[in-house]
Amino acid sequence: MQTAATAAPRHIAIVMDGNGRWAKRRFLPRLAGHKQGVESLRRCVRACAERGVAVLTVFAFSSENWNRPQDEVSGLMELMGRALVREVPQLMRDGVRLFFVGAREGLASGMRAALEQAEAATAANTRLTLNVCFNYGGRWDIAQAAARLAAGGEAITEESLHRAMAMAHVPDPDLLIRTGGEMRISNFLLWQAAYCELYFSDRLWPDFDEAALDEAIAAFAARERRFGRTPEQMHVAAAAALRA
Ligand code: FPP
Repeated sequence: MQTAATAAPRHIAIVMDGNGRWAKRRFLPRLAGHKQGVESLRRCVRACAERGVAVLTVFAFSSENWNRPQDEVSGLMELMGRALVREVPQLMRDGVRLFFVGAREGLASGMRAALEQAEAATAANTRLTLNVCFNYGGRWDIAQAAARLAAGGEAITEESLHRAMAMAHVPDPDLLIRTGGEMRISNFLLWQAAYCELYFSDRLWPDFDEAALDEAIAAFAARERRFGRTPEQMHVAAAAALRA
């Protein structure tokens, strides 16, 4: 029988939802939930590396998150700044390469420099690629890719757009997990999730542990991905692959 570890998707994407509710249930400020969210992310990165996942992409701060209360926005920025300093040594030990995906021009110059430093420091790591979507929106990505192509006088095709997108350095996600019980995509990876398997967990992000990740991977392994083909075509292709 296939185990969750052997059937791990190549690329997992996660909407890490539920930090605020986790904190509220404990009568804590929302930022305490985000801090616990960073712990959960650390655990998840390590678990993905151990399970052979090649790419993990997480939604840390959306283009729309600027609309949150000012103290929460500045708290999240501080948290990111601190996490960059604190986490890089562990990422180095774990072989994790870090990429930031999002509109950098909307960030403070100090933050931009810190992101670039962390990317440069981890650039030679090959075990797991961690994309942190920060000041990111799926619509932003499609629009910036189209604008860049138009500015260069290039034709806009599926292939050229794909190449111009902020996630062109990795294959499309295979599995998109959203924690926190909501069932929506919220402007995450709109283009790249075209053939992604969706998995919704009621767990709040700080409670999303290794067992919850394994459940998601097992659910993924049980899905039949057809990419527009019929089940019969898929069975013929699977039988041919077994014979080859
Ligand atoms: C959504 O939960 C979560 C976020 C907007 C932030 C996610 C950030 C982290 C997990 C920490 C890692 C990121 C940084 C910046 C270092 P929510 O606040 O919407 O939760 P709720 O739905 O329960 O209110």
